[in-house]
Amino acid sequence: QTTVRVSPAVLGFSAVGHSLEDIVVVPEGYSVTVMTRLGDPLTAATPAYANDGSDADFANRIGDHADALAYFGLSDAGAPDAGANGRGLMVQNHENITESYLHPNGPTTVGGARPLDEVLKEIECHGVSVAEYVDNGDRNWTYVQDSAFNRRVTPNTVMSFHGPAAGNAWLQTMYSPEGTAGRGTINNCANGVTGWHSYLTCEENFHGYFRRDSADDALRSERQLASLRRNGVTSRSGSYAWSTASSTDTRITRWNATTTSATTAATSDFRNEPFQFGWVVEIDPYDPASTPRKRTALGRFGHEGAFAQIVAGQPVGVYMGDDSRGEYLYKYVSNANFDAADTDAADRLATGDKYLDNGTLYVARFNADGTGTWLPLVFGQVPARPASGSYPEYAFESQADILINCRLAGDAVGATPMDRPEWTAGNPATGEIYLTLTNSNNSNRPVDGTNAANPRSYWGSGNPNGHIVRLREDGDTTAAMTFTWDIYLFGADTLDTDTADEQANINVSNLDLSNDFSSPDGAYFSRASAPSGQFNPLFWIETDDGAMTDVTNCMLLAAQPGTVGDGGARTINNTNPNTGATGSQATFVGASASAANLRRFLVGPTQCEITGIDMTPDGRTLFVGIQHPGERGDAANITSNWPASQTDADATARPRSAIVAITKNDGGVIGL
Ligand code: FEO
Ligand code: CA
Ligand code: CA
Ligand code: CA
Repeated sequence: QTTVRVSPAVLGFSAVGHSLEDIVVVPEGYSVTVMTRLGDPLTAATPAYANDGSDADFANRIGDHADALAYFGLSDAGAPDAGANGRGLMVQNHENITESYLHPNGPTTVGGARPLDEVLKEIECHGVSVAEYVDNGDRNWTYVQDSAFNRRVTPNTVMSFHGPAAGNAWLQTMYSPEGTAGRGTINNCANGVTGWHSYLTCEENFHGYFRRDSADDALRSERQLASLRRNGVTSRSGSYAWSTASSTDTRITRWNATTTSATTAATSDFRNEPFQFGWVVEIDPYDPASTPRKRTALGRFGHEGAFAQIVAGQPVGVYMGDDSRGEYLYKYVSNANFDAADTDAADRLATGDKYLDNGTLYVARFNADGTGTWLPLVFGQVPARPASGSYPEYAFESQADILINCRLAGDAVGATPMDRPEWTAGNPATGEIYLTLTNSNNSNRPVDGTNAANPRSYWGSGNPNGHIVRLREDGDTTAAMTFTWDIYLFGADTLDTDTADEQANINVSNLDLSNDFSSPDGAYFSRASAPSGQFNPLFWIETDDGAMTDVTNCMLLAAQPGTVGDGGARTINNTNPNTGATGSQATFVGASASAANLRRFLVGPTQCEITGIDMTPDGRTLFVGIQHPGERGDAANITSNWPASQTDADATARPRSAIVAITKNDGGVIGL
């Protein structure tokens, strides 16, 4: 075994170049093992996955679109043991589906209706999975098909509501006339892990799945209509047209959120079903029989992730992005200070009640002077959201109202609109919080549509490659009401240039071919492998599609991140050199990349996104999610054969989202 290098760690691998190959590429000296894939069986009785569109019973199979993941250790005897390196539970989100590959010839519609069996399959491919992983020795990782811990959480799994909005009238549905329970979770994107070893899964783009017929608008209160529109619940069909399936099965009819009539009760239909989603859900990964809990104190919006900052004696802080253009960064602060004795609490969800149901939600304002303010979303302190455009004024009626309508509340208090806030991650060595802002591909954004934390508006392409902001809480406590911040890094495609001026303005972080990237999304710090303060963990950045897929597939980079303010003042010229359109000079404080402090570690297969990431506690196995390889193909035109292509150059199989385990051939710590 190699010795862990102590402060400062260095990047100890050779950068991986751009790649358009249909495999996962890692540095020399590292190996890739494909772990759980779409469709892999989670019980002894479930048949192997045929991968030809004929498979069913996804309530007992790994779901689609491997997204965020987390590893929870198990002792050799099978007891919860967060420090265990050779056996554990892999919990993973299944955000969405690549519909075409799930059916023999792609999705079908017969007489205007989706077939019931196809729809039920697509629904069950969403949610969360728990699968046992074991290292059989010498980094030979496999999953355990018949483990008693294996579980699927799907959009049909019974869940309960907790916190201030539980029981609110807007949460009352046919499934729960009391508004205290519901079914399932959907579009689970990123995640969080608590200090008491539970899993937080985040409901992101829930809005698109619901159908609302045009007749619904006139049957809604002005308040609900404003709320539905502000959260994008405006589809007239719903994703994949699930509600067209001819059935009275509530697993189908719930996706139609159209109000039945002006005289029927809200509990007689599913008009309120959209308000049951957009939450953070806590799951006990070690108890397959437990009922997941929706934590309403953490607010409702397009939840990307939920990084939990756990420091004994401080409140639990949960940092959360809302991934849509111009949305906000939020922080939840528990009333109770974290008690280290709760680390090994036997009842993890009851511990969640203690820390996640009683606290204050804040939204971030980034000031131009490099300071920031957490604005409390507390009833009585939030003014009415003023009327704007076609929105009427919205006056809040209760704390539950604020929590259900965080976007409206964020508007009301003057939060800073951001370029799509994705993951948050905390540096365990400094306590600083990093936030990826994936991009703002907005060709219409005028140059004055910027702000200090989102300063780039390159005329004609907005902020196509994204950036990463980091913040340090004043007093280094999660309880802080103020913080300092800077811009850590701007994405750039160094090959995408037609003038030197353009290059200078796009590539403001001085990236080169060893580390250029676009659209940062996943963000993660290595698990500390040495006592706190001795080891500066590496920062990992994952990318999603973006403006670079013509030259390389999506990727994972590793960085030596530094600290807030270490880069000095820099300037971006937002003027378009091609047209001469006048732009603003934006000044920011931020770092510069170099081959020494930022390197590409991995490139994924064709048309994938690199998503989940976690390590064993010893840092010697890295797990990475490979989401939707071949997503732009279909059953008749397969565009990726991954993961079969990883080991078989002549593979012809349909692509499958999957997790890979990456180990160093000498058994060392990943990245060092
Ligand atoms: Fe599901 Fe914002 O990525
Ligand atoms: Ca994401
Ligand atoms: Ca993304
Ligand atoms: Ca994607």
